[in-house]
Amino acid sequence: MNPRKPSILIVDDSEDNLLLLSQILAKEGYNINSDLNGYSAIETALKHPPDLILLDIMMPDINGYEVCDRLKADSRTQDIPIIFISALNELFDLVKAFSMGAVDYLTKPIRIPELLSRVNTHLSLYKLQTEFKQKNAELTQLVEHLQRTQTQLIESEKMAALGRLVAALSHEISTPVGIGITLASTLKNEAHNFEEQVDQGQLKKSIVVNHIHRVKRSSHILLDNLQRAADLIQSLKQVSADQSHFKKQEFYLKPYLEKIIISLSPHLEKSGHKLTLTGEETLKINSYPGAFAQIVTNLVINSIQHGYQPGETGHLHFDIYSQDDRLMIIYVDDGCGIPVEYQDKIFEPFFTTARSSGGSGLGLHILYNLVTQKLQGQILCDGQVSRGTKFILNLPIELEE
Ligand SMILES: Nc1ncnc2c1ncn2[C@@H]1O[C@H](COP(=O)(O)OP(=O)(O)OP(=O)(O)O)[C@@H](O)[C@H]1O
Ligand SMILES: [Mg+2]
Repeated sequence: MNPRKPSILIVDDSEDNLLLLSQILAKEGYNINSDLNGYSAIETALKHPPDLILLDIMMPDINGYEVCDRLKADSRTQDIPIIFISALNELFDLVKAFSMGAVDYLTKPIRIPELLSRVNTHLSLYKLQTEFKQKNAELTQLVEHLQRTQTQLIESEKMAALGRLVAALSHEISTPVGIGITLASTLKNEAHNFEEQVDQGQLKKSIVVNHIHRVKRSSHILLDNLQRAADLIQSLKQVSADQSHFKKQEFYLKPYLEKIIISLSPHLEKSGHKLTLTGEETLKINSYPGAFAQIVTNLVINSIQHGYQPGETGHLHFDIYSQDDRLMIIYVDDGCGIPVEYQDKIFEPFFTTARSSGGSGLGLHILYNLVTQKLQGQILCDGQVSRGTKFILNLPIELEE
């Protein structure tokens, strides 16, 4: 396919000039349109924008400057290169032409090689500029499209996460509530039977003793299950990371963590574990101390609950340091570790290996939400360690608003 020939509009009130220029340029292979009058030239240019305009200045009716002005004011023609052609050769005219947005200025009599080289140059520049604009527009469109897609993905991922949470939640809560319903109806029957026996005057001591025993046992289990459902609902509140009770402030991290560790000492002393902390004393951050307290507590309690056999003692350790504008927290214990196949599940809601001993599996999920949402950071469980468990937290030192 032949590339489209560049089109040139020539505007000059002298018929001879017009003919001469048209012939020269047509011979070079350009598509030529010519006009003796400025007004009709404007109309032509707006209807079929050319790639270049050669414009005479001195014309009756409307002069070249005025024509240029009107073409520059219309979005269809504002970028088309305009070369003025004139017998005027004063500095004033040159300055005026360029200040109006012309790309070049040729003086009569026209020298053909000069005309051709200038026309050629400006057509090439215009082509490059048009291509650049188009590429730029395509890129902008692509970026916008990507941004929209990303927002949609985030939204649908949020919805999917919410869906998973609700599904898991209804599963978790339906067990204790189901047991509760069964027990409540057992109690109702028990009361009914007891009432009948009272009515029939058959009440023996053994019946009363048995009845009391069954009521006590059932209510005990009922209470346990209701308590479990209530606990689940309570801990769910923390799943949403925007817990408004957290206050943002500037604080020294190490002394703050030391205080939290002291508050954990009853748990540690009971189990005989040692908890240590190393790091920059002067590391000051602007963040939510409350969230840090919750994170540290969750990590330590998890080690105590899952890392060691009864009677076994361990060493738990926090190290904090800054790296550019980031804060790194490394937490390790030397317990049994988390099996590799569980490592990408532990942050999911309700994943627990301790359901029978009352674990809800929300601890690390809450921690994950706190780190990634409230604190704008990342957390990962390092699976490379030979022994024990290692968590790496990467957080901003200064939280964005
Ligand atoms: N330090 C650790 N050592 C060994 N296993 C761990 C450790 N921390 C977490 N885990 C594993 O990750 C699972 C998920 O932990 P998570 O804190 O989310 O739930 P949980 O402790 O079982 O229950 P909850 O915290 O809701 O009471 C645990 O059940 C356990 O299997
Ligand atoms: Mg836990």
